[in-house]
Amino acid sequence: MDIIEGIEKRKSIRAFKPDPVPRKALEKVLQAAVAAPSKGNSQIWEFVAITGNELKDIKVMLGELLKTDFIPLMKLTDEEAPSPALEKAKIRSSRNKEEMSKILNPMGLDFDDFMLEGTFRFFDAPAAVMVFIEDIYLKNLPHLLSVGAAVQNMLLSAQTLGLGTCWIGGVWRYTKQIRKILGIPDNKMLVSSVAIGYPDNDSPINKYKSGRDSIDDLVQWKGFE
Ligand SMILES: Cc1cc2nc3c(=O)[nH]c(=O)nc-3n(C[C@H](O)[C@H](O)[C@H](O)COP(=O)(O)O)c2cc1C
Repeated sequence: MDIIEGIEKRKSIRAFKPDPVPRKALEKVLQAAVAAPSKGNSQIWEFVAITGNELKDIKVMLGELLKTDFIPLMKLTDEEAPSPALEKAKIRSSRNKEEMSKILNPMGLDFDDFMLEGTFRFFDAPAAVMVFIEDIYLKNLPHLLSVGAAVQNMLLSAQTLGLGTCWIGGVWRYTKQIRKILGIPDNKMLVSSVAIGYPDNDSPINKYKSGRDSIDDLVQWKGFE
């Protein structure tokens, strides 16, 4: 599969087989992560590959926090001031919700519950990679973009190995508790995670492929005429 085909075929996987992911495969995925570009080649990312009991402990803890100490997203961001851009983003997200609900509802699942609970248990993936950066970089846009490039490399390289992934952002609100389980120092912040495993291709939810706006609506061409 060439790169463009891989990019076009990639999608979030939200149902996994229980089969373990070999360490060798994760090494390749992490090698791809660190091959990403970074601001001034500063490579400020730090990765934790997790499986087995460690991942189970995190999932159990997050499941408990969801019940006892759930922090709604609006308490964490200040993006709620009305704006045309936000409206557009909301329309796209509700389209996503509507389309996914058509698959989830016949399975007896509600979209919001599935996404939230699924996110908090990494959609039962047998492995995960978490990306941490030092707290001093947290407000530094170029460093955060570099992490995004590394994560995308993980998603694409995993796919070439027959693995499925879901980018998991929703658990960063519990960085403190995750750090404690993993024995990570207090000055490291969780910025992204990836759920990784072999896709369960029998699950209807993995049949879903989200749409995109046309580049005609998103791109301005200058100087081409
Ligand atoms: C920064 C970021 C955070 C994300 N966090 C989550 C998450 O917590 N849970 C989840 O199910 N999907 C999460 N996703 C996946 C998006 O929902 C998904 O990429 C989007 O709906 C497009 O679908 P696709 O990946 O299948 O193309 C995240 C994606 C990004 C880029």
